[in-house]
Amino acid sequence: MTVASTLYAILFNVAALTLVIGLGYKIYDFARTPAPLKIPTTPAPTTRTGVVFRMAREVVLFESLFKSNLWIWIFGWMFHMGLFLVLARHLRYFTEPVWTWVALIQPFGIYAGFAMVAGLGGLWARRFLVERIKYISTPSDHLMLALLLAIGVSGLFMKFLSHTDIVGVKVFFLGLMRFDWQPLPEHPGLYVHLFLVALLMIVFPFSKLVHAPGVFFSPGRNQADDPRERRHLAPWAAELDAKS
Ligand code: HEM
Repeated sequence: MTVASTLYAILFNVAALTLVIGLGYKIYDFARTPAPLKIPTTPAPTTRTGVVFRMAREVVLFESLFKSNLWIWIFGWMFHMGLFLVLARHLRYFTEPVWTWVALIQPFGIYAGFAMVAGLGGLWARRFLVERIKYISTPSDHLMLALLLAIGVSGLFMKFLSHTDIVGVKVFFLGLMRFDWQPLPEHPGLYVHLFLVALLMIVFPFSKLVHAPGVFFSPGRNQADDPRERRHLAPWAAELDAKS
């Protein structure tokens, strides 16, 4: 094990722990936050099944964004779907034997890398070119976009310009998962890609990116429009009712 391999092994253990505990805590926090009012964004489904379908359309197709802003939808959807495919393609580094569906999507995963970067480029350009959006953009908005873009570009750089030993990468990550540390291939592009990924994992739970689990807890989206059929009573309000 070289010094760099040991440092990266420690870094990824810290990053994985921060991501799992941090995100776990955020989800717990979202789940215990009271939703005292019945406020589904109408027109809304009137049944729980309807809500499940609405949420699925929202998460997979970004339905409400499509209806409100076509430009942001195009870039946002392109980025997120690209990211999803890219991450699915990366599962080959963490599974042995590689699952069949992961093997099958490999070719699409490469194009998805370009879609992801193009989408991010569009979303970032908007923060400079649209005056109203530029005005409300904070440093963290720019930083998260820059971080994701740099991860995508460094990945494409390795794929097309300066190859790394991907079998060695897999040995390193399988080693981490089995608590049996193995050396990481020495490659500047890989060092950059992995350092940025670890950084993303560490800041994720404290950043705006928690909207990923957060969308499921949005009362405007996850409530059924049935206030006449069912009385909306939060558990803490029920306790107060019982006391009085
Ligand atoms: C947020 C997480 C990540 C994102 C967004 C990301 C993005 C990308 C992209 C867009 C590519 C180019 C297209 C491709 O080959 O799929 C790529 C390549 C690559 N990524 Fe990642 N990556 C992430 C995490 C990781 C992790 C955790 C590893 C370590 C296992 C890794 C290792 C690699 C390697 C070795 C390549 C080059 C593939 C090749 O040469 O065929 N990436 N990444």
